[in-house]
Amino acid sequence: MDVVVKDNVALEKDIVILGIETSCDETSAAVLRNGRELLSHIISSQVKTHQKFGGVVPEVASREHILHLQGVVEEALKEAKIDFKDLAGIAVTYGPGLVGSLLVGVAGAKAMAYGAGIPLLGINHLEGHIYANFLSDPELKFPLLALLVSGGHTHLVYFENHGQYEVLGRTRDDAAGEALDKIARALDLGYPGGPYIEKAALKGDPQAFDFPRAMLEPGSLDFSFSGVKSAVLNTLNTARMKGITLKVEDVAASFQEAIVDVLVRKTILALEKTKAPTLVLAGGVAANTLLRERLTEVAQEQGVYFTYPPPVLCTDNGAMIAVAGYYHYLTQDYAPWDLNAVPGLNLA
Ligand code: KG4
Ligand code: ZN
Repeated sequence: MDVVVKDNVALEKDIVILGIETSCDETSAAVLRNGRELLSHIISSQVKTHQKFGGVVPEVASREHILHLQGVVEEALKEAKIDFKDLAGIAVTYGPGLVGSLLVGVAGAKAMAYGAGIPLLGINHLEGHIYANFLSDPELKFPLLALLVSGGHTHLVYFENHGQYEVLGRTRDDAAGEALDKIARALDLGYPGGPYIEKAALKGDPQAFDFPRAMLEPGSLDFSFSGVKSAVLNTLNTARMKGITLKVEDVAASFQEAIVDVLVRKTILALEKTKAPTLVLAGGVAANTLLRERLTEVAQEQGVYFTYPPPVLCTDNGAMIAVAGYYHYLTQDYAPWDLNAVPGLNLA
């Protein structure tokens, strides 16, 4: 397949990137100028559609993306007062995520970029989450340590520079967000669970239950959240069998405390190991206030610069994809026209 790609890398020209995100249950598009200036940001959330099922139904998610992608992109371009011909490139999430959802974004972005004769930029969703920090903090500099906590992933990543990183630790079972969602469901709190656990925890006692903290082998930067999840489920089942009513808020607060405690302790260990001068937080769980507060204290104690995006840039969004796309564009790291969705894509 041949297509003429315009060379827009001329520095005197504004570099405008359209970012598209459809990996899970948000259809989102953003227009970003010169890597920092967000001209528009549209997010069409499917949360209400999936809420009645207690979680994302993949088939429904891809259909919703098909219905909304074009409208979301048109709205983003209109609000930004940008035409396809003004774009330098189109960035799209190609993994990880739900295969059907990813395919809608990838196919749409491909068609748009091909039609406009501009580069297609394939973005790893996890990288996108971390790059949201470059949008909220324009002064951000490498090297940095990133704690990425989302619904599907929990990673500690050391970044030397753009594209140069090392994964220091990852979850061996459940992701932090996944565990929060499962316990919220068991407590009948709602979906997605993280914000509901956080809200309930405000009225609960974090010391009411001593749930386990899996630290794994000494020095390990990996995570494991299936143990604490099972411990909470056992506590709930035992109480039910004995006819004891537990205070939901106490369970939520103690569980949140255990999750945040492990995340913070592993981050301290990673800061000590890497001597990173900067720490960034990313992913949906990064919206959690307790986690933000605890890490702020840690950073102060350790003399480390700490930053995190506002909640809207923590959960899935197109702006973070546009930021990562901007850096791919600068290094002319264009995706091939046969780019495919990679549901199991990870950080190498
Ligand atoms: O990054 P994200 O939007 O999607 C994935 O890439 O997975 O993360 C979604 C996760 C869900 O598990 C959700 O419960 C969690 O982020 N989350 C939170 C909060 N807001 C969203 N967890 C804790 N506290 C929050 N305020
Ligand atoms: Zn995400």
